[in-house]
Amino acid sequence: MDAAVDQAAIEQFMGQMIGTMSGGMLCFGILLGDELGLYRVMAGTGPMTAEEVAGKAGCNLRLTKEWLDGQAAGGIMTCDGEQGRYELRPEAVMALADESSPVFLARGLNVFASVFNDLPKIAEAFRGSGGLSWGEHHPCLFKGTEWFFRTGYRAHLPAEWIPALDGVEEKLRAGARVADIGCGHGASAIVMAGAYPASRIWGFDFHNPSVETARARSEEAGVADRTTFESADARGYDGTFDLICFFDCLHDMGDPVGIARHAREHLDPDGTVLLVEPFALDGHAANLADNPMATLFYNASAAVCLPNSLSQEVGLGLGAQAGEARLRSVFEEAGFTRFRRAAETPVNLILEARP
Ligand SMILES: C[S@@+](CC[C@H](N)C(=O)[O-])C[C@H]1O[C@@H](n2cnc3c(N)ncnc32)[C@H](O)[C@@H]1O
Repeated sequence: MDAAVDQAAIEQFMGQMIGTMSGGMLCFGILLGDELGLYRVMAGTGPMTAEEVAGKAGCNLRLTKEWLDGQAAGGIMTCDGEQGRYELRPEAVMALADESSPVFLARGLNVFASVFNDLPKIAEAFRGSGGLSWGEHHPCLFKGTEWFFRTGYRAHLPAEWIPALDGVEEKLRAGARVADIGCGHGASAIVMAGAYPASRIWGFDFHNPSVETARARSEEAGVADRTTFESADARGYDGTFDLICFFDCLHDMGDPVGIARHAREHLDPDGTVLLVEPFALDGHAANLADNPMATLFYNASAAVCLPNSLSQEVGLGLGAQAGEARLRSVFEEAGFTRFRRAAETPVNLILEARP
């Protein structure tokens, strides 16, 4: 080994890598646990043996026992030593077993399944034009995105984000026309339709399979009477709206300025754009130094968000860590005169733009 190499630094780095690999493998274990219902059979039951968990979930005992030890080693559940009884931590019940909880994240890990699966296509984009359209990805991406962001929309959208906008909550309660652009599986549109039954929500997305799933989700949620989902590009929808929303999608798009301009043209003169974007600071140096979400979001951006943007006309390539100042410049260029941060969470920036 090179004598100049600092042995302690190598050991420290290898420890960091083992932590990273353990996290990656644990992500797979979590996804598997969600898929098989292993967390759900353990929720609120008190300590269980491997036999009980495997029996209740209908899974192979030996594999389940190994999975349980992996979960216990990863700090997700406790194991009472030789007794061999496992119990989910209360926090893990909320995050991994209860899909209605405000912190449920297990199913969002489908995003990781998709990027590993899509490695050859993503590598080809890196070696070539940089473009890879949303619909070219494995379907796990669409499901994972829905579940990753849906939790935050359910927890914060009607309770905090809409009330933080100027005069919007009153309009939605009275009955307003709302457009949800790049709506994906309709998670945000369905939350708004549930909270504001007098309003009518249109969801638009250029990925037709997502639009079909959004329609099905809206039927399941009992809000199909006040939601309409249509295949449309973000520069291609018609109508006039009181509120036009972009939930975690504007940075994915090729022409954010043209898309914001199209929104202004289809906004009521007293209307509002709600722009929800992944949490970011201004500039990459600040994100690298101080943003705890930067590792997750820069890596996801390089694999998914930027390739989609680069596959479209203009191909601006904002990236998921654009930050408020860059997003403001997009809306100013599109002719909006008012732009402000209305709220934030550790995961999202909530921005308001007005004509
Ligand atoms: C990261 S996903 C977010 C989906 C959804 N808003 C959510 O939060 O769950 C980005 C979405 O933007 C859509 N999209 C990307 N480019 C688009 C475009 N030019 N026009 C319409 N939709 C687009 C994709 O199909 C995808 O559903």
